[in-house]
Amino acid sequence: MKLLTNIGALAGVDRSGIKLRRGDEMAEFPLLRDAWLLVDGERIAAFGEMAELSGREFGAVETVDMQGGWVFPSFCDSHTHIVYAGNRAGEFIDKINGLSYEEIAARGGGILNSADLLHRTSEDELFRQAMERVGEMIAKGTGAVEIKSGYGLTVEDELKMLRVIRRIAQSVPAVVRSTFLGAHAVGRAYVGRQSEYVDLVCNEMIPEVGCEKLADYIDVFCDKGFFTPAETARMLEEAAKWGMKPKIHANELDVSGGVQVGVAHGAVSVDHLERTTEVEIEVLKNSSTIPTVLPGASFFLGMPYGNAKGMIAAGLPVALASDYNPGSSPSGDMRFVASLGCIRMKLLPEQALNAATINGAAAMEVAGDAGSIAVGKLANFFVTAPLPSLAFLLYAYTTPLITQVWLRGMRQ
Ligand code: NIG
Ligand code: FE
Repeated sequence: MKLLTNIGALAGVDRSGIKLRRGDEMAEFPLLRDAWLLVDGERIAAFGEMAELSGREFGAVETVDMQGGWVFPSFCDSHTHIVYAGNRAGEFIDKINGLSYEEIAARGGGILNSADLLHRTSEDELFRQAMERVGEMIAKGTGAVEIKSGYGLTVEDELKMLRVIRRIAQSVPAVVRSTFLGAHAVGRAYVGRQSEYVDLVCNEMIPEVGCEKLADYIDVFCDKGFFTPAETARMLEEAAKWGMKPKIHANELDVSGGVQVGVAHGAVSVDHLERTTEVEIEVLKNSSTIPTVLPGASFFLGMPYGNAKGMIAAGLPVALASDYNPGSSPSGDMRFVASLGCIRMKLLPEQALNAATINGAAAMEVAGDAGSIAVGKLANFFVTAPLPSLAFLLYAYTTPLITQVWLRGMRQ
């Protein structure tokens, strides 16, 4: 057992077993000042205030003095595309020169560029590149991550990506969830034959993925220029037969109908939501689907920011995720994502932190293990230098404040 003492503040503590925070609750991110934390193996065994520590007996413990550092639950990044080959820095220049994301995609670039490169990259090399990104995310405080396929776009290459995700899950101490996103774009060989590509997803990809149990979820890019709500519904129904629940891309490029089709199929989350109206908010209010907003994509592509504040005012449990991918968000820094939540979406630091921890955990159904400092959960947390306030973590958004990362009770 390990006893961490002299913690300046233990942040995001929970004693009542909450699974997420919604609406007004999102303004609460409880702090326990001058605290201790007991870790037993890979889990949190107890915590409390230093003033009440004397006289308590825990048996054989190794004591670690945190010297006033603050402890936060690890970030839970519920939407990423970190298995990809190379990068798309060339398109970065195209965007600087004035092309939009949609124009690049329409010229056959974008996702299809990544698919071409992935096709030529071996599974081992893909794993190596993706592991570098996971390592970077862990160092930046992430302890649970969802990873999507979607740069394969053929049966073989989608399976290759999902095997890489499985190998990552077996190799890192972070919690990993996997999502099949065969309908990220129409594969090159099917351009102009979208309905045949949807047939391929339904008749070949989904059964193979399901049979090999390679994915927890199904995702579809339900948006203008990509897949329609009717096509999305068909693919979600097929995936449901294999126990894959939806987590879908919706309303990034247009008010796409994606929220409605996701909610109708019991989606765990609907993600992006840059173009979301009162109608979608009403639909979400009558559901258990978690709206997930990705401010890193808005920042990188210069798109509008999702109306997270309006969703919280409507009582919804908003999650924030990085969308780490080569085309629209080449960063997995969840602290920066939470800062963007504050700076550009006017969330309070407490709301942004709940969105990036417990609600992110709920958006990938791992809130029993991650997302808060709670007895019985995995000891997944990061430590910062002593902070003058909770807000400082997201205000001083480039200061390297994170000093330690612990996953499954082990300092990384
Ligand atoms: O979430 N919107 C769709 N998919 C990604 C971008 C993928 C890419 O451009 O490579 C996203 O933004
Ligand atoms: Fe995405």
